[in-house]
Amino acid sequence: MSENIRVLLPEDELAGRIAELGAQISKDYEGESVFLVCVLKGASFFACELAKRITVPVIIDFMATSSYGSGTVSTGVVKIKKDLDLDPAGQNVIIVEDIIDSGNTLNYLSQVFKDRGAKSVRMCTMLDKPDRREVDVHVDYTGFTIPDQFVVGYGLDYDQKYRNLPYIGVVELD
Ligand code: IMP
Ligand code: MG
Repeated sequence: MSENIRVLLPEDELAGRIAELGAQISKDYEGESVFLVCVLKGASFFACELAKRITVPVIIDFMATSSYGSGTVSTGVVKIKKDLDLDPAGQNVIIVEDIIDSGNTLNYLSQVFKDRGAKSVRMCTMLDKPDRREVDVHVDYTGFTIPDQFVVGYGLDYDQKYRNLPYIGVVELD
């Protein structure tokens, strides 16, 4: 079986939309600072490009999560595999994700940061697949809404491959 990658969102479209999101965040937090929480590994490419487009002061930190499921069915249980280095208490946290699928990861993380005393907690995702939602999460900043297809590139992987593609593509198996 071989894989073919069909371009869904080219590099220039991603760059344009990320610049818009950065401008929107800069406007919304005028006079304040933001604390970007990048969820590894997938969101790393997006978070770095987004940070470059934000004009208010930015702190960036990284964490990794894993979700446990039996087979292909997610249990909705999320675990922190790598925690932040910095303390988010009193900060305007923006959780930066690559893609929202079931919504379990963001749902869990938003509660974590509220419990840790963040001043505010918002969500920003590069991609949203709303058809797959299992829990209702409020997303403040969305790059693109896409259909229920498995995508790779710009940080997203298929079996750890393709994260380095500069565009978002759909994996086609043939
Ligand atoms: P969820 O919203 O908790 O289900 O978690 C979403 C996570 O699943 C994302 O952060 C990705 O790591 C992964 N994921 C979901 N859909 C895709 C996809 O189409 N391609 C690659 N990874 C995906
Ligand atoms: Mg992820």
